[in-house]
Amino acid sequence: MSDLVQKYNVPGPRYTSYPTVPYWDLHNFSGSKWKETVQRSFEESNAEEGISIYIHLPFCEQLCTFCGCHKRITKRHEVEWPYIKSVLREWRLYCDLFSSRPRIKELHLGGGTPTFFSPAHLEKLVQGLLRRAELCDDSELSFEGHPNSTTKEHLQVMYNLGFRRVSYGVQDYSVTVQKTINRLQPFDNVKQVTDWSREIGYTSIGHDLIFGLPHQTLGDVERTICMTKAQKPDRIAFYSYAHVPWLKGSGQRGFKESDLPSPETKRRLYQRGKEVLQDVGYHEIGMDHFALKSDSLYKAMVQGTLHRNFMGYTSTKTQLLIGLGVSSIGDSWYGFAQNVKGVEEYEHLVLNGIIPIFRGHILSDEDQIIRRHILNLMCQFKTSWADENNRFTGLEQVLERLREMENDELLKISSDQLVVTKKGQPFIRNICMAFDLQLHRKKPETQIFSMTI
Ligand SMILES: C[S@@+](CC[C@H](N)C(=O)[O-])C[C@H]1O[C@@H](n2cnc3c(N)ncnc32)[C@H](O)[C@@H]1O
Ligand code: SF4
Repeated sequence: MSDLVQKYNVPGPRYTSYPTVPYWDLHNFSGSKWKETVQRSFEESNAEEGISIYIHLPFCEQLCTFCGCHKRITKRHEVEWPYIKSVLREWRLYCDLFSSRPRIKELHLGGGTPTFFSPAHLEKLVQGLLRRAELCDDSELSFEGHPNSTTKEHLQVMYNLGFRRVSYGVQDYSVTVQKTINRLQPFDNVKQVTDWSREIGYTSIGHDLIFGLPHQTLGDVERTICMTKAQKPDRIAFYSYAHVPWLKGSGQRGFKESDLPSPETKRRLYQRGKEVLQDVGYHEIGMDHFALKSDSLYKAMVQGTLHRNFMGYTSTKTQLLIGLGVSSIGDSWYGFAQNVKGVEEYEHLVLNGIIPIFRGHILSDEDQIIRRHILNLMCQFKTSWADENNRFTGLEQVLERLREMENDELLKISSDQLVVTKKGQPFIRNICMAFDLQLHRKKPETQIFSMTI
């Protein structure tokens, strides 16, 4: 395994979209094209499956120095209400494009820190959104809570609004690691919010853990996983630490590259974590998730309906995802569009009736086919071109690129399908890269992606 890790540990996308953001064709994109694709997708899918909404709530009180998310650090809570008003204005701009009342299948509040906002403001946000929409019968409403700022009132208010899933950022319980990443977060805080969530009636409680953090040892991961399994969250995200200090605003500092575990150690951290989790009944889902059998993510995997989008793995798949708030990315299946990242610019644009996107991509027929293959691989570890709609010019070259991985027993290719072996699963990002025609047409000149292992 160690040789394979050395061989395949290269910079590569996490494939929450295809084409990946650095490969969007900005010249062939415009706001009007984006709106057309949104309207087309809405017409095709709202009545049947409904739509998804992601709302980005960017504020955090303190910077965690490992964090790769888009955030704004502030202790000034006066920012809450103007921001919420802007998100609701943006929602109104989208509703004006729709020919009927939107039906919401999935609503996710992410961040930053959604629980930076007061329960009353979150309630106004969700009520404002629902004033122009209805919920599908089997809708899934979820939010990300910070264990240090989630109160019982937050949980009760969100539950009363229909939220049944909550995920908490845990990362690692080692005090040395926590000090290095500037995130002191005692076990008792996590246990408290987890217990409250269960008491109130949440049916899916998630914990986010990370392997590969600075100064993190095998013992730390073992301890963290043991303390996690004792609380029995329904879902665990076990993310590979993405080291991307070159991204503007990533804020990754306060430790040296040499403080990070080596690629081989990092893989061992994952393997060990996985063994312990599987021993106590968790099932591995896709690239970096684990879930109990009763959780909807596990059921989606078994039924073959697991999906991946900008929010990561999800159990609900809709054709249209509207992203609201700074830096959010919308997905109409025929196109992607990202909102501006600055809070002031965002508020100014929506106040002036402008959908606040600043870049995007319209998918070609070829992009849509490749996207399907990459989704199949990321969600089901296999893909097929038996159906001629899934064939594309260049398939032969893709398969040629995969021969070496086949010789390394990472996958099996037959006449019309590719199946990733157990041994190949840790290398899924590398396997997807072989299909990434955009990446092969133009290799990046500098490092823009985190390492695959
Ligand atoms: C927006 S944050 C979670 C919500 C809340 N702000 C908190 O910290 O508890 C979502 C998750 O992304 C993950 N994450 C953030 N930066 C990461 C990085 N550089 N590499 C891997 N995962 C990361 C963390 O596990 C984090 O809990
Ligand atoms: S991990 Fe969460 S709380 Fe920390 S900076 Fe990132 S988004 Fe904010």
